[in-house]
Amino acid sequence: MSWVFTRVCSAFFDLWLSALLGVHSTEDIHEESKLDDLKAVTKRKHPARLWTAIGLIGTLLLWLIRPKVPYSHISGAIPFTFLEALVSRTPEAHHPMNNAFPLPELISEGHWKAPDGNFKGWSPNFDMGTRSLPDWASGSLPPGFERWSEEKNVTTMKNYYNPINDPLRITNLDRKLLEPLTRALKDHDVPITHVVLVMMESTRKDVFPFKSGSHLHREILNSYKSQDPDAMHQLNANLSHLTPIAEILTGESGGLPKSTRETDSSHWKDTAEAGMGGLNINGVLTGSSLSFKSEIVNHCGVWPLPLDFMEEIKSDIYQPCIVQVLELFNKFKKNSFASSSRDLNERRWTSTFIQAVTGIYADQNILNDQIGFKKTVYREDIGQKDAKHYHADMEEINYFGYSEREVYPYIEDAIDDAIKNNERLFLSHFTSTTHHPWGLPKGFQSEQYFSDESLIGKHEDMNSYLNSVRYVDTWLGDMLGLLDKKGIANETLVVFVGDHGQAFQEDSPVTGCYENGHISNFRVPLIFRHPLLPKIQVTANTTSLSIIPTILDLLVQTKSLNEKDSGITLDLMNEYEGQSLIRPYKATDDGRQAWNFGIISAGGEMLSVGSAAFPYRLILPLTQDFEFVFSNLETDPDEENLLRGWSVDDLVSRVKSAHGDKAGQWVVEAEKVGRWWVGESKRLYNHAE
Ligand SMILES: *[C@@H]1O[C@H](CO)[C@@H](O)[C@H](O)[C@H]1NC(C)=O
Ligand SMILES: *[C@@H]1O[C@H](CO)[C@@H](O)[C@H](O)[C@H]1NC(C)=O
Ligand SMILES: *[C@@H]1O[C@H](CO)[C@@H](O)[C@H](O)[C@H]1NC(C)=O
Ligand SMILES: *[C@@H]1O[C@H](CO)[C@@H](O)[C@H](O)[C@H]1NC(C)=O
Repeated sequence: MSWVFTRVCSAFFDLWLSALLGVHSTEDIHEESKLDDLKAVTKRKHPARLWTAIGLIGTLLLWLIRPKVPYSHISGAIPFTFLEALVSRTPEAHHPMNNAFPLPELISEGHWKAPDGNFKGWSPNFDMGTRSLPDWASGSLPPGFERWSEEKNVTTMKNYYNPINDPLRITNLDRKLLEPLTRALKDHDVPITHVVLVMMESTRKDVFPFKSGSHLHREILNSYKSQDPDAMHQLNANLSHLTPIAEILTGESGGLPKSTRETDSSHWKDTAEAGMGGLNINGVLTGSSLSFKSEIVNHCGVWPLPLDFMEEIKSDIYQPCIVQVLELFNKFKKNSFASSSRDLNERRWTSTFIQAVTGIYADQNILNDQIGFKKTVYREDIGQKDAKHYHADMEEINYFGYSEREVYPYIEDAIDDAIKNNERLFLSHFTSTTHHPWGLPKGFQSEQYFSDESLIGKHEDMNSYLNSVRYVDTWLGDMLGLLDKKGIANETLVVFVGDHGQAFQEDSPVTGCYENGHISNFRVPLIFRHPLLPKIQVTANTTSLSIIPTILDLLVQTKSLNEKDSGITLDLMNEYEGQSLIRPYKATDDGRQAWNFGIISAGGEMLSVGSAAFPYRLILPLTQDFEFVFSNLETDPDEENLLRGWSVDDLVSRVKSAHGDKAGQWVVEAEKVGRWWVGESKRLYNHAE
């Protein structure tokens, strides 16, 4: 179209401008085109004023009919686009160094809190000068503790996280432990010698466990044209075998009629007494739908960077990661004493990261070094012919590597070594079979849940995913069985968390996590499993940011640390942003909401903003290519009816008319807080713009 119109437009403006300025068009002399004749004729007939009028009307017309955002850039009227280019527009994101909190009335002096015990106080915008270092922060500290180091590098002028100045920080450490926990801890010892963190690939909360009546269950039932009761009963019986281990771990029933199967006997049996098993948290969203950003949240208790891919590995993570905290404990333990001590609290910690898939994708190996893992096991290690447990028929099940079962002997080794060396193990394991393309090992029987006619094309992916979920469910049982076999189950805390969810055609118009803010990518299971802790159902509208503070709180409260380490931990717990989930969660504090963020894969394009205080959710675009999206999870828990707008004002007016003024006002605040947070995060990571 441009090719066709360029000459005409050019001729038109040439005529107009030359008529306006009373000069002859330069083109008259050189141009040999047929337009010359036209120009000559029109110029003679029409005076300059007429051309100006035509020009102005044309411009106005263009201005009026130009398309709305986001297509506005497609057409622009010349004088306005010139002006826009000349007038510098206010930048979208706040500059990290000059980023004032947008709700100043909530953090004004009247709201400040004085220090109290381990609580450091809270007074944003008030420069207290340098903070005095705690007792434990002397000598050389392990990586991750730079902000406590006496030899801080003054030449670089780095930014550090300071809980006293964080306008969003809400602590619940001043609240009492959950009542059943207090009772249990008074009752009997609950030793936590070892900690296992199982990050579960693409594991949605609605498949952990799979439940009757869920959106997903309805989708499966609806795929059958004739809902013959017998067939539906058989189908439900089949579905009841999807996630039996998840049902045990969460204490949530799938609500489907149980049928027995031959394979049942090979499944893991819970040794915990009735009513025991630990905490199951409902209402958790992941901190990021990009796996390795989520790994940072789960291991370090920080938000990741709202930038595409793993920019975090180019800077320092702004809090010590759990492995580094354990390393700090080691610093104060004498080798000789630890290796002979019968007192578990005097033993040294060791850390291992194990997964059956590649460790070099997206620089994960560099990230794991940064998090502080001393040992790692990846596909690259176990696939070597000279690897300890190599066998010729190892089978790759997807483009990332092997099935989890291939690392079973390596996990066993890690446990054996820890026991032999009288050490305490921090083991991190990342499952992988539930990743696209949901390949299964040959021996594992795939099942069909959706109807024949609906399977091809429509429900194929979800059906494969459900089979991989069933496979991983049995694998989790095997892992727990290994803890039983090694005799450490009763002294091991196992944290299960989904790295993120996974949206399918059944959930959202866009599938997958990439640039897709849909809620099914964010709801994840979170369980703190310990056979000697009471089974407690917790509901907290929180994120995986709470994992590290909760693990630390549990270590102290179960008396699984010596006095010195307890002191350090009580101090450190007051440095993290997340709340502890073994105490009642604070959805608000003195007028402030507990904001939740979710970095949407790949990271820098859009941000999920939510709050524990309201059921609303805003997808905030960080570039001009995406819309603002609003959902009300109370009325629309599966986000089937989203409100969209290309500008905040657009969206707010739509939200107000559909959900009321309060919801609209919330969106206004969420947008401001989200934008502020993006700048703040870059500041904390010392990310140069
Ligand atoms: C401080 O940082 C600068 C720049 O990164 C570096 O050149 C210098 O050696 C550092 N100094 C110390 C004492 O670490
Ligand atoms: C249930 O599973 C069995 C195999 O385990 C299969 O033969 C049967 O067709 C399934 N029934 C339904 C209704 O999906
Ligand atoms: C864990 O402790 C419970 C009760 O204290 C006991 O019944 C169970 O056998 C123990 N499990 C293991 C694996 O030691
Ligand atoms: C979590 O949010 C939901 C609405 O989304 C609300 O009904 C519920 O009360 C909240 N739970 C807590 C513990 O704040």
